[in-house]
Amino acid sequence: DKGAYRHFMAKEIAEQPEVVGHSLTRYVDMTTGRVRLPQGADFDFSRLDRLAISACGTAFYAGLVARYWFERFAHLPVDIDIASEFRYREPPLAAGSLALLISQSGETADTLATLRHCKAKGMKIGAVVNVPTSTIAREADVVFPTVAGVEVGVASTKAFTCQLAVLAALAVKAGRDRNVLSEEDEQKLVSSLIELPRLMAETLHLEGEIEKLAQTFAKAQDVLYLGRGTSFPIALEGALKLKEISYIHAEGYAAGELKHGPIALVDETVPVVVLAPFDPLFEKTASNMQEVAARGGKIVLVTDAEGAKHAGDVFATLVVPTAYAFVNPLIYAIPIQLLAYHTAVFMGTDVDQPRNLAKSVTVE
Ligand code: M6R
Repeated sequence: DKGAYRHFMAKEIAEQPEVVGHSLTRYVDMTTGRVRLPQGADFDFSRLDRLAISACGTAFYAGLVARYWFERFAHLPVDIDIASEFRYREPPLAAGSLALLISQSGETADTLATLRHCKAKGMKIGAVVNVPTSTIAREADVVFPTVAGVEVGVASTKAFTCQLAVLAALAVKAGRDRNVLSEEDEQKLVSSLIELPRLMAETLHLEGEIEKLAQTFAKAQDVLYLGRGTSFPIALEGALKLKEISYIHAEGYAAGELKHGPIALVDETVPVVVLAPFDPLFEKTASNMQEVAARGGKIVLVTDAEGAKHAGDVFATLVVPTAYAFVNPLIYAIPIQLLAYHTAVFMGTDVDQPRNLAKSVTVE
């Protein structure tokens, strides 16, 4: 039921503070500020050598963000592959690694094939899944549930942020298990997770501004998305969201990669969405932004209050709440979802059932 919303996607975007909150209550103890994994999923990361993450589409981008977290907070090396490519790389599979699959539906053929391949090689299988009765959930050794509820829109939104929330909690757990994080570090990170639903709700208030911007995007032929660090996978996700529901060509790039080729595309007709919280990477991203501005590109900067002060010459700025850097990917996901949504609505496409796409891709 869409309730008062025009599309399931709009409803699912709006539900995110609530469902991310639900997902988090399964993984963190709100009173002690410690991570507590759900029953049956109490995995010990202390003796792992590597983590091998595989997924498709948006779930893959959640995995890309998680790589930064696992490596930084748990010093756990992460391999990550698009599930449809994993087997062709023929990676040597170490007994001491955990294969971690991420899937909303739990039925994606490529992800399932990777699961079975890893299982046949004797690896232990973990799965971050939204549908608890799905094939991937049944075949995994350890299931880390997301609690996004049913996601109807083909473009994944709330499942993505719930995947991020669960992966964030797992990375903190891994950091504790591996003695990289102190109890105090853990509490700091967990309290930033607990703050998330409130900050995400605040971010949703940008909708009116984004709706106006969407009219500019609807006229574009190409759109670029740029980010550094954990904002890079969110740039990739922004481009995927826009492509799949508005059919506008879009690409996400690591901000530093721009001058290695894609900047040749930039002129006054190309909107460039820059995701740049005011963190230690801001200055570098800002200088990439100036390279775009010098070529007439229309910059839409998504940043926090401090970043906005240092923005310089931009077409528009969307100011999101200031948060602990760790949780920024969940906040920056919201404006890019809303931008894709409103651009598609403005263009009159079938937002919930975009052409050529299926909610769950059950063929390889
Ligand atoms: O159900 P899954 O998470 O395994 O699905 C993976 C992709 O097919 C999915 O994320 C797809 O990319 C979405 N349509 C993106 O919005």
